[in-house]
Amino acid sequence: MLPPMNSREISALSPNPLTALDEAHQARHADRDALRVALAATRARLMRLWDAYRAALAADGWQVRYLPELNPPLWELGHVAWFEEFWIARNPLRALGSMADPDAARAASCLPRADALYHSSLVPHARRWHLSLPDERSTLNYANEVRQRTLRLLAQTPNTDADADAELYFYRLVLHHEDMHGEAWANTAQTLGFAIGHALNEPIPAGEAAVDAIDQPKSVAVNGTWCMPAQRWLAGSTEVGFVFDNEVPALAIELPAYEIDRAPVTWGQYLPFIEAGGYDDARWWTAPGWAWRQRHGLARPRHLSRDELGGWQRAVFGRWQAVDPQTPVVHLTAHEAQAWCQWAGRRLPTEFEWEAAAVSSAAAHEPFDWGQVWEWTASAFEPYAGFRAHPYADYSAPWFDGRPVLRGASFATSARLKHPRYRNYFPADRNDLFAGFRTCTL
Ligand code: AVJ
Ligand code: FE
Repeated sequence: MLPPMNSREISALSPNPLTALDEAHQARHADRDALRVALAATRARLMRLWDAYRAALAADGWQVRYLPELNPPLWELGHVAWFEEFWIARNPLRALGSMADPDAARAASCLPRADALYHSSLVPHARRWHLSLPDERSTLNYANEVRQRTLRLLAQTPNTDADADAELYFYRLVLHHEDMHGEAWANTAQTLGFAIGHALNEPIPAGEAAVDAIDQPKSVAVNGTWCMPAQRWLAGSTEVGFVFDNEVPALAIELPAYEIDRAPVTWGQYLPFIEAGGYDDARWWTAPGWAWRQRHGLARPRHLSRDELGGWQRAVFGRWQAVDPQTPVVHLTAHEAQAWCQWAGRRLPTEFEWEAAAVSSAAAHEPFDWGQVWEWTASAFEPYAGFRAHPYADYSAPWFDGRPVLRGASFATSARLKHPRYRNYFPADRNDLFAGFRTCTL
C-alpha cells in the first residue's frame, strides 16, 4: 500500500504556490498528476482536522450531541470514503463523467453494508445517530483502501487535460466533495467549541517560519463601494473543465447599474444595530426573520456575548476573544443580514451582482475583498434555464426550495473551492456557518 504523501512531497510537486483563485481554477482543470497532488492535499487537511477531533472527542467515544446542523464525526468520515468509492471504484460508467447514468449497477463496496450506512440520500439525517458504525480504525482503513483504488484507477486515465474532462470528472467531484466536508468539520468544531489548531493551514514549506493558526476571518483590507455600470452579465460557467450542475448552462442576465460594497460588513458596522435595539424591533425584520428571532429568543448573533463593561466578546473555537471591529461579521443567519440592511437603508446584492463584481474586479484592478466569510445574497437557489442534473443528482436539485444562495468562501474553505462562480446554499436560519454579508446601495 502506498503511504499518503507528506507535506514535503506535496510541496515538491507544486513548487509555485498558487494564489487562491488560481488554485480553484486549477482544481477544476486539474489533470491526472495535479489531481493526485490535490487529492493528497485535501486528505492531509481532513486528517489534520481528524486529529483535532480525536483530541476533543475520542475520550467520549466520538459521541456528539444531536444537532440538526451536524453529522456524527465517525459517520461523516465514513461518508467521505463511501462517496469516493461509490462514484469512482464502484462506478462502471465513471469514464463518462457528467453524462454517466447514475443508476448503473454498482460493484460491491469493500466495506460490507457501506450503502446502508453512508449513502447520504438513503440514510436520513436523524438516523445517522442510531447506526452501529465501524470504529475509528476500521473507518480510517476503509478510507485508505478506497483511496488506494482511486489512485490506481486515476493512474490509468488519459492525461491530456482538456480532452479528459469526462474521464476526470468524478475525481474532481470527489476532490471538491472532500473539501466541502473539511469545511463542515470546521463548522462542527466551532459549533461544539473545540480548537482545531493549525488544521486549516496548508503545510508550511521547509525553512519557512511558522504562521499563526487561521481560525477566524481576518480584518477587511478595503472599504467603500464600487459603482458597476449597467451590463449584460453571463453568469455561470461554460462546460470546460469541471463545473457543478447548478452553474450551467451559462445564463445571460441584464444587470442595471448598481453600487456594491468592496468588503463584507464588519462588526464595527453591525454592533451599533444590536446596541440600538435592532433585535427587539420588528420593523427591521422580514416576517420569517421575526418569527426566527422570536422562536430562538436571540438578542444578538450566535457565539457573541457582552461583558460587564459593555465590550463584545466572540467564542472562536471555544475560546472567548474581544471582537475586532475591523473583521467581517460571521455566524449570521440570512434573517439577521436582511434586518441589518433594512435598518441601515441598504440591501443585499443578488448573486449575479456579487458574481459580476467578484469576477470583474481582478481585470479591472478594482479592490473587492472576498473569501473570509460566505456571503448571503438576495437570490433564492434556483436552476439556471436549461439545467440538467449531473449524475450525483442530489447535489443541487433537492435544494431548489427557496433557500438563499451564498457566494464567496470563508477562511475555512479550501482554496480549491474558492471560486467566484461557485454557488453555495443553506436554509436562511443557519447560523453555524462562517457566513456574513455585504450590501448594495438602494
Ligand atoms: C453544497 C455545501 C450545501 O453541505 O449540504 C456535501 C455540500 N453535498 N455532501 C452541503 C455537500 C453533499 C453541500 N453544500
Ligand atoms: Fe457529502
